[in-house]
Amino acid sequence: MTVPAPLTLTLASEAQTHRLAAALAKLAAPGVTVLLDGPVGAGKTTLARHVILALLAQTGQVEDVPSPTFTIVQTYEAGPLEIWHADLYRLTSTAELNELGLEAAFDTAFCLVEWPDRIGKDRPDALTIALGYGNGENERTALITATGSAQPVLDRLKESLSQ
Ligand SMILES: Nc1ncnc2c1ncn2[C@@H]1O[C@H](COP(=O)(O)OP(=O)(O)OP(=O)(O)O)[C@@H](O)[C@H]1O
Ligand SMILES: [Mg+2]
Repeated sequence: MTVPAPLTLTLASEAQTHRLAAALAKLAAPGVTVLLDGPVGAGKTTLARHVILALLAQTGQVEDVPSPTFTIVQTYEAGPLEIWHADLYRLTSTAELNELGLEAAFDTAFCLVEWPDRIGKDRPDALTIALGYGNGENERTALITATGSAQPVLDRLKESLSQ
């Protein structure tokens, strides 16, 4: 299998981040993991929140999607799909990942993970979105890559965004 080329996007405004979120929501499935890299305030929670809101809306749910900064993990159910939103910033050891059940969730749920560097070297196959600051207050950049079984997911994301 050929490795898909990275996808580079300029998100000129929050509306464009929402558009990326809508495209990601279409790819959500058990075993799909999205790792969200980038500095404080880059937009990791904003992107994850809009993916989750889109998925909940599909099943008629309107719910708050708080940042999991303090709880580390927030879970949701969109019909049969389990969604895990994690913020690992406050994680103190990799053993905690197991205790949280996140490693098992990588196989069974759709996972969105902020601060994935805390996972160490046993990262799951995933779509990695590295967010960064762009020109001006509301511009962000996104560099999207994929490893292993997530490579077809990146191909589908490119297709979806080109429509
Ligand atoms: N194009 C954009 N995309 C996403 N967020 C944007 C954009 N422009 C401005 N923002 C703002 O930037 C902020 C991003 O905050 P957010 O909490 O999503 O960052 P974060 O990466 O999760 O930070 P942390 O590392 O603290 O968890 C929000 O206030 C959001 O409104
Ligand atoms: Mg955040």
